[in-house]
Amino acid sequence: MKLWGGRFKGNTDELAFSFNESLSFDRRLYRQDIEGSLAHVKMLAKQGILTEEERDRIAAGLLSIRDRLEAGTLQFDDSQEDIHSFIEGTLTAEIGEAGKKLHTGRSRNDQVAVDMKLYTRGETDEIISLTENLIRVIRELMHEHKETFMPGFTHLQKAQPVTLAHHLGAYEAMLLRDVSRLTDTRKRMNECPLGAGALAGTTYDLDREYTAALLGFDKATENSMDSVSDRDYIIELLSDLSILMMHLSRFSEEIILWNSNEYGFIELDDAYSTGSSIMPQKKNPDIAELVRGKTGRIYGHLMQILTTMKGLPLAYNKDMQEDKEGAFDAIDNVKPALILFAGMLSTMRVNKEAMAKSAMNGFTNATDAADYLVNHGIPFRDAHGIIGGLVLTCIERGCSLLDLSMEDYKAACSAFEEDIYDAISLKTCVSKRLTKGAPGELIERLK
Ligand code: ARG
Repeated sequence: MKLWGGRFKGNTDELAFSFNESLSFDRRLYRQDIEGSLAHVKMLAKQGILTEEERDRIAAGLLSIRDRLEAGTLQFDDSQEDIHSFIEGTLTAEIGEAGKKLHTGRSRNDQVAVDMKLYTRGETDEIISLTENLIRVIRELMHEHKETFMPGFTHLQKAQPVTLAHHLGAYEAMLLRDVSRLTDTRKRMNECPLGAGALAGTTYDLDREYTAALLGFDKATENSMDSVSDRDYIIELLSDLSILMMHLSRFSEEIILWNSNEYGFIELDDAYSTGSSIMPQKKNPDIAELVRGKTGRIYGHLMQILTTMKGLPLAYNKDMQEDKEGAFDAIDNVKPALILFAGMLSTMRVNKEAMAKSAMNGFTNATDAADYLVNHGIPFRDAHGIIGGLVLTCIERGCSLLDLSMEDYKAACSAFEEDIYDAISLKTCVSKRLTKGAPGELIERLK
């Protein structure tokens, strides 16, 4: 039976029904739908709109539906168009007359809005805590690798030496911003639309603030038309998740490079790698690749909802039913990505020697060698040229600046002394970079 059958004579076309229905995906909101209804009837009884007996009968009926859905002893009835119709229909079939009063002073428009907000609020909290867990894992690695030297890159060309801790600290900073963004989004999300009715409120004497408080919202939403047609909180969440995934995707790209034979900086654990069906030697970083790959899909959901909303007149339009699948899919993919990333990082093996060797071979200390000469009174531009010449010699000989003899140095410039070797060691190059946010300062901070 349809909630709205009264004014209709004919039946819905079968394809129109399946095009229109949302129960196949909004069934996951059953808990929020029941939570919202429980608060609504409690408020209705407090206001004298329902009797206490009616309230208790409805509440008991709703809780029984929830328990049986959870136990798997009650099945979703696919002839119902959405989760709201299914629960109200089941309730009325089971408890009779009182069930028909549940929808007093309410519309599915404010109902679906409150369900989605309760759902996204819970998921936002979970995503925040999963992100914080990933930050914890990164911080542990930073402590462990405060003096693991590696090349820092610009243009993917070796630039100056850094530490693994410093490199990881960049991702820590990004993820901290993600947590801050999600926390901010949650704040704006936490206003209760229930009681806005279809669009224009209701003539019943509802206590909207009471309902809001029962559901853990900071307050009731202001404008009833906005209340039922606002999807900003979903857009904000998807935008936060897009940025978060963009960060994880960049990190993935580096993990994939570092894990390659050419770099050999890290080796991912078997638990987070897969093999090839044809090439027996292969161990592929599929998890990192999929995190990178799925990022596009999250952006897609953000674009979809932005586009869905852009031309909608006030207030509710059925287009808005399209707010759910993308949000659900984004949440369903971001959560495991965060969990897997933490596991992948905490189990990877770091090849410190390979990292240090790569930093040495790439002349990442060339700037420091030039600075050495500057400190000995040579103008920087001349120093740049002298070190450039020495780098060329190294390239010809296939060695690093530390392998050149004192004669080589003296021949290039008489200002060089024995202490040049210490001045351009990776340890010195890094630990002397003490400006705020630099790798040397981080070594001090992690001590
Ligand atoms: N399934 C609908 C949705 O997700 C519920 C709201 C329906 N409201 C309406 N006026 N038809 O948006």
